[in-house]
Amino acid sequence: MAVFFPYTWMFCVSVIELFLCFLQTCGCYFSTSCQRSSQFYSDPTDAVKDIPNGATVLVGGFGLCGIPENLINSLLKTGVKGLTAVSNNAGVDNFGLGLLLQTKQIKRMISSYVGENAEFERQYLAGELEVELTPQGTLAERIRAGGAGIPAFFTATGYGTLIQEGGSPIKYNKDGSISIASEKREVKEFNGRHYIMEEAITGDYALIKAWKADRAGNIVFRKTARNFNQPMCKAAKTTIVEVEEVVDVGTFAEEDIHIPSIYVHRVVQGASYEKRIEKRTVKKSQEAKAKPKKDSDIVRERIIRRAALEFEDGMYANLGIGIPMLASNFIKPDITVHLQSENGILGLGPYPTEDVVDADLINAGKETVSVLPGAAYFSSDESFAMIRGGHINLTMLGAMQVSKHGDLANWMIPGKMVKGMGGAMDLVASAGTKVVVTMEHSAKGGKHKILDTCSLPLTGKQCVDRIITEKAVFDVDKTTGLTLIEVWEGLTPEDIKACTGTDFAVSPNLRAMQQI
Ligand SMILES: *[C@@H]1O[C@H](CO)[C@@H](O)[C@H](O)[C@H]1NC(C)=O
Repeated sequence: MAVFFPYTWMFCVSVIELFLCFLQTCGCYFSTSCQRSSQFYSDPTDAVKDIPNGATVLVGGFGLCGIPENLINSLLKTGVKGLTAVSNNAGVDNFGLGLLLQTKQIKRMISSYVGENAEFERQYLAGELEVELTPQGTLAERIRAGGAGIPAFFTATGYGTLIQEGGSPIKYNKDGSISIASEKREVKEFNGRHYIMEEAITGDYALIKAWKADRAGNIVFRKTARNFNQPMCKAAKTTIVEVEEVVDVGTFAEEDIHIPSIYVHRVVQGASYEKRIEKRTVKKSQEAKAKPKKDSDIVRERIIRRAALEFEDGMYANLGIGIPMLASNFIKPDITVHLQSENGILGLGPYPTEDVVDADLINAGKETVSVLPGAAYFSSDESFAMIRGGHINLTMLGAMQVSKHGDLANWMIPGKMVKGMGGAMDLVASAGTKVVVTMEHSAKGGKHKILDTCSLPLTGKQCVDRIITEKAVFDVDKTTGLTLIEVWEGLTPEDIKACTGTDFAVSPNLRAMQQI
């Protein structure tokens, strides 16, 4: 008997519970109040009018590609102030987030690259704006982690740089001294490599630009306009999505949905889209004859024609703007190289012809591009998972300084305006990726760029594998230092010594610098 009582009691409870569950289910079935489903708005200003002063707002887009233009314009109308804006870039002077900077509605920006904006620069240097520069892949992952309930994570990106050490200026005083400095990061070793701890980012609101929403609130993005929009959808308490089109359920298939409706709280169809292009680049017609070559062009071409020999059949490569990207014009026709662009392309093609220029299709340099058959688009967090995870075989990029042990400096000159590191720190921090630096051997005025130790703030520590200049090619060993493996015809190792700021070994197989 003593055992029977509790049993009966428990049984009763479960019957009551069952009944309550049933009632609740009916409630949900007949009204939508139990489940938070997407609300549709017709006026973008209605969709953002409750954003309060001081809110943290995640703003999608890369450069001007895939930015929520109508929602940003609506914030100009609501006049909300003191915003913390998390956005890879800061727009340009008179478009995108640049508009909210002009009206001084933004208190702090968390970004990876802010180079295209003069008013931004003025406010930052005058101590009117706080700027937290974050490597692009770390920014994307901090947002992804925020949405996925992970408070912090460890990454190799930024180890041995100012990001880890802290002390870089977030806010200046009027007299130019530092008012708020960045905090240093915790370091931990895993399997013999160093990693730094980065904390997740979440927002009060996310302002997102997507291509289409269906009436259930599922959304899809177009081409490279996905970028930061995808992870940001998941990392805010309230996600507000503006789209070009609202379509019936079933217009795009369930398996093609990029963001399920659970992450989408408000949807508004933008009245119009300017989709301004930052750098309209098109394929030059055959007739456009090359101008007579200057000395600097000859130097560049030498580096380009040597750099192109780094490509191997089947490689996945990420190429910096300038010389590395130009090297891709010389890839041998009998090999296939898959080019990755960190804003979300695998299978990058040449510049488009004028008739197919598309504002939703740009490269990491914000230039209009095309893609090759078999290409894929993806989000920024996905792109940097690819990079950080060592799936890219080759990264080629420029440098201001390289040390004999492979330290790289290419993002910051103290005292000059700092535009940000973009994705460079992430690209060079990947263990499985060969890092090739292409640069002129010496700086203007003959100052050495290849040194014992870099004097400029680092992009990465012991990360460079090879250096290609117009005079020489070096292999870099992280412990033993440099070995000269190729030298330009007519030059000797002594000539190279005279223009290099550090010692190096000479390979027993030293040969003339190769050209494609
Ligand atoms: C590229 O890297 C992958 C590993 O991520 C490797 O399996 C493959 O062989 C590499 N390809 C080339 C051409 O180096």
